[in-house]
Amino acid sequence: MTVNTIGVVGAGMMGSEIALVMALAGKSVLLSDREQAFLDKAVAKLDGVLDKGIVRGFYSEDDKARAQDNMRTTLDLGDFACCDMVIEAVFEDEEVKAGVYRALDQVLTTDCLIASNTSSISISVLASYLEESRRPLFLGTHFFSPVSRMKLVEVIPGLETADETVAAVTAVCEEAGKTPVPIKDVVGFAVNRLIHIFWIEAIRLVEEGVATPEDIDTACKLGMGLPVGPFRLMDAVTNNLSLDVQEILHEAYGPRFMPRPLLKQMVKAGYNGRSAGKGWYRYDES
Ligand SMILES: NC(=O)c1ccc[n+]([C@@H]2O[C@H](COP(=O)([O-])OP(=O)(O)OC[C@H]3O[C@@H](n4cnc5c(N)ncnc54)[C@H](O)[C@@H]3O)[C@@H](O)[C@H]2O)c1
Repeated sequence: MTVNTIGVVGAGMMGSEIALVMALAGKSVLLSDREQAFLDKAVAKLDGVLDKGIVRGFYSEDDKARAQDNMRTTLDLGDFACCDMVIEAVFEDEEVKAGVYRALDQVLTTDCLIASNTSSISISVLASYLEESRRPLFLGTHFFSPVSRMKLVEVIPGLETADETVAAVTAVCEEAGKTPVPIKDVVGFAVNRLIHIFWIEAIRLVEEGVATPEDIDTACKLGMGLPVGPFRLMDAVTNNLSLDVQEILHEAYGPRFMPRPLLKQMVKAGYNGRSAGKGWYRYDES
């Protein structure tokens, strides 16, 4: 299976940068969303990622030109008929994703690979929204944010995913400079289970007055070799998303993933993290 043309549905935080790494890898990329304004915003954001990358030495001017040349945007999923692979990165909502799969069923070629970037919905469940004949071609590719910097992709086959699909998608991820790791289709896959246990305990430390978020971040960076501490990372991921994921993990695995009261309180009060201007840290002051 040779993958030259990749369609990405959903031009948000994840989909836009997935499109970018694929375009940088020389793939012809079609990026799609519900409204032109979202696509324009994604393109402007990616220009910023490239420019910042050039200043920091991650990218060259040639990389920028290649990425821009290789990427097109469209509002029409009908354009995805030319794709060898489609990556879905729309909202984390089973119904929304199901609607996208039903639409893709109508347009994709019979041998097009399909991947979901879901962080918590079962791959086998998502596969059930596709025509039966497509299910062997469907799997999960769980990229990490920011996709342009983070190397890991959890590659998750569902019950009916063919070995050839896993091999082909693994190869595409490697071409994009990622390190794919095969993971079983369980709730939270592997990394989210580990990271949320860690975050829940970090919040418990703050609740108990053991240390401040800032001091815990410093301790984790210096004592565990982490590039960023748990509270700074929660603020980047957003506290509301963390709470959503912990509720899903709690339902699947019981009390060890019970979200902490302080996190619930902060989300309810709008302390959602960097994008909200305030979270464990403040971002609305110079
Ligand atoms: N944010 C993270 O750190 C993270 C990490 C790993 C995986 N994920 C997963 O990636 C997926 C996307 O997350 P995100 O953070 O990029 O979300 P986001 O809200 O930033 O972006 C989602 C995009 O999908 C678009 N969209 C929604 N419905 C659509 C439809 N029917 N057709 C076309 N476009 C549609 C929205 O307009 C939006 O631009 C989710 O499944 C999420 O769980 C997120």
